[in-house]
Amino acid sequence: MTVVKELRTKLGLTQKQLAANTSSKLAFIQKMERGLITPTIEEIAPVAEFLGITPGILLDSLKLRALDNIGEGYKTSLQGEAFTIPRVKPITPDRLYMVDLFCGVGGLSYGFEQTGRFEVVAGLDLLSDRAKTFSANHLHAFSVCSDITKITPQTIQDNAPRPFIVAGGPPCQGFSSIRPFRTLTVNDERNNLFEHFALYVDALQPEWFVMENVVGMLTHKNGETLTTILELMQSIGYRVSWKVLNGAYYGLPQSRERLFIIGNRQNVDFVWPEPTHFYVYQGMAGRYSQVLARDLFHGALPPAVSVMEAIGDLPPIIAGGNATQYEREPLTPYQATIRNGAQNLALHEATTHSDKMMEIIRQSGRNISAVQHLVTSGFSTSYSRLDADEPSTTITVNFVHPSSNRCIHPIQHRALTPREGARLQSFPDTFVFNGKKTQIVKQIGNAVPPLLGEVIAEAILANIA
Ligand SMILES: C[S@@+](CC[C@H](N)C(=O)[O-])C[C@H]1O[C@@H](n2cnc3c(N)ncnc32)[C@H](O)[C@@H]1O
Repeated sequence: MTVVKELRTKLGLTQKQLAANTSSKLAFIQKMERGLITPTIEEIAPVAEFLGITPGILLDSLKLRALDNIGEGYKTSLQGEAFTIPRVKPITPDRLYMVDLFCGVGGLSYGFEQTGRFEVVAGLDLLSDRAKTFSANHLHAFSVCSDITKITPQTIQDNAPRPFIVAGGPPCQGFSSIRPFRTLTVNDERNNLFEHFALYVDALQPEWFVMENVVGMLTHKNGETLTTILELMQSIGYRVSWKVLNGAYYGLPQSRERLFIIGNRQNVDFVWPEPTHFYVYQGMAGRYSQVLARDLFHGALPPAVSVMEAIGDLPPIIAGGNATQYEREPLTPYQATIRNGAQNLALHEATTHSDKMMEIIRQSGRNISAVQHLVTSGFSTSYSRLDADEPSTTITVNFVHPSSNRCIHPIQHRALTPREGARLQSFPDTFVFNGKKTQIVKQIGNAVPPLLGEVIAEAILANIA
């Protein structure tokens, strides 16, 4: 009997009741109990918290592999029926058109639109809640909710003009063989998602492409994966370069590293954006020359935006509480910009915590060592409190649960609210999130921060000027 079943039975709950109490799907609980799936620590955290054990122990008991950065938070199985959502507003002439593949809620492309020069004309994602949120915020875009492997680029071509740029973050599933591009065909089940991305780029013929991924891809298969992707994109006519960018260098109140691969058919030697903020940290990808040197900018630039500079104007609430109105004026330039004229406050709702969890939260510090006597396992950054005067650490897909990566409010006794997570990810308060709260938290945690999208867009504009 698995530990989930054992604890559930002790509590006298049915599988359905456990699913309802943890906002999980019934099928997820059923499959976990039967050992049929290998969930991530993020996915099992709500179940673990509800059952009163740490996610680490639950994982161990399920004999699962440890959290793997690659594919963090991604879903790659087909979810329900494919459908499309028509664009709400007509396409504007004289814009640089953009297609967003694996778009999620489209944080990256939303940032591109903020420059006023780009317009997103199509988006594609597997998950319906992502497609709906994408569509609600990209009014000129035709949205497709489908597994990319189940449709062809023709679906996009039939509904959108030729794009100037194609963006996408194909989940890195790993692959064993390298196949030359000329041997690839659309709808071949052996294609991995990178190959699908390349096939779409080749069919849509954009001048530029931007591919985004987790930093773990650098070391995946000792660098072979990255080399393969670079070669693949070169073989279809693009001049490519890559870099790891940390949002904190560019005004994001979060230390979030992402790998970007950018290519163009204009034979432009892309000049990467210069940092605008100073921040000292030990990066995940520190040994690579493409990662910006840490001490270069000390003194010359303002410090990175801090957590409280980003969220300090939001009304204080207790665990389980919520607020729907702003109670004060913005206190910092970041807060003023991120409100974006919103009149009502949405998604400022804090998770309810058990008495035991409240005790852990009250005693929590910068890492798990402050509460080591209260918990039996967890990662070094589980049950940890954010610094008020520093950018946050990386927001994950489970930041409303203290067992996740460092997500306890700097001064209040609770985990971050979805609104606070959205702010740290640079989503304006007016950005519309569709779906259940659990889906919205994942939408926020999985996104590329719009601010980083805007920075990259400006750099591309400068390169083509
Ligand atoms: C990291 S998220 C994308 C974030 C997005 N680029 C942004 O800027 O916010 C990756 C997305 O790929 C989608 N995805 C995964 N497998 C897919 C597939 N086979 N077909 C289409 N979308 C897929 C996931 O649902 C997820 O929303």
